[in-house]
Amino acid sequence: MKTSVFSSFSFGAVLAVLVLTGCGKGPTAPPASSSPQSGGSAPAEKVVTIGMSQCNLGEPWRVQMNQDIATAAQKHPNLKVVYKDAQNDTLKQRAHVEEFVSAKVDLIIISPKEAAPLTEPVAKAMDAGIPVIVLDRRLIGDKYTCFIGADNKKIGKAAGEWIKQTLGGKGKVVELEGLMTSTPGQDRHSGFREGIVGSQIEVVFEADMKWLEPDARQEMESALARFPHIDLVYAHNDPGAHGAYLATKAAGREKEMKFVGIDALPQEGVAYVSQGILSATFQYPTGGVEAIDTALKILAGDKVPKEITLGSRLFTKDNVANGGEPLP
Ligand code: FRU
Repeated sequence: MKTSVFSSFSFGAVLAVLVLTGCGKGPTAPPASSSPQSGGSAPAEKVVTIGMSQCNLGEPWRVQMNQDIATAAQKHPNLKVVYKDAQNDTLKQRAHVEEFVSAKVDLIIISPKEAAPLTEPVAKAMDAGIPVIVLDRRLIGDKYTCFIGADNKKIGKAAGEWIKQTLGGKGKVVELEGLMTSTPGQDRHSGFREGIVGSQIEVVFEADMKWLEPDARQEMESALARFPHIDLVYAHNDPGAHGAYLATKAAGREKEMKFVGIDALPQEGVAYVSQGILSATFQYPTGGVEAIDTALKILAGDKVPKEITLGSRLFTKDNVANGGEPLP
């Protein structure tokens, strides 16, 4: 199901529902300790707390996600977002979710590092009556309130088809994968393989660079050492594509091949396309704004879709000046 436009929502309605329902917590639940009140006599409006668990802030795309959330949340003065950064450590992220449950936040947004280990703490949060929005990377099963993200399989397939067309149906390709225990890595891989089916494209080298530019650079050094000719590098994100480019440039071979990535942040992938470093990048929206819109609806007791699929755009040198073009 596609949902990308939300009507704006009155915060008063959220409060009304929260007051009426006690926010889904038992009647003895203590008031949130996080609402400091000055000693005045007027009762302060209830602060609604969202716990946001981010798997890392080492990559610009995740900084952008938090920023998108913060900008959307700022429009609602009684919405308090508590951010935790797991620094790419799964155990830390599990602990963060558990801390949010102990603190009895009203709702959790999580962008999990990987699927399997984060499934259980999220299920426990749901058992505790705390709604959970899962952003960008999926969990296993369906014990969460709403998943928001773009269709990675579709993006991977579109990348494969674009590469097939650009290489005239044949060539030697390097695939640098995102963390393969995370669902975007799995889907960008399987989608890509579907996209090149029936061509004479040969994936001569494939490695998991775990979404990280330094890892991509290192893997690309190995690929360059092994293969005297490479036509194209498909990386599951723009930092990966850029890392591969840097390794190739250091070897003096950057004119030999093309580089394709995913994310298309204006200051990152789109800028690389404008500079001629990447031949193409596919947008992967952060979903931050949609997460806050959806959180407000959930807190107001409205029904929300189980899944919100965001669109994507393709940027190449031919369309980048015009803002790219949407994937069909
Ligand atoms: C950031 C990132 C993005 C990628 C997304 C996939 O951590 O690696 O570059 O598109 O995660 O979940």
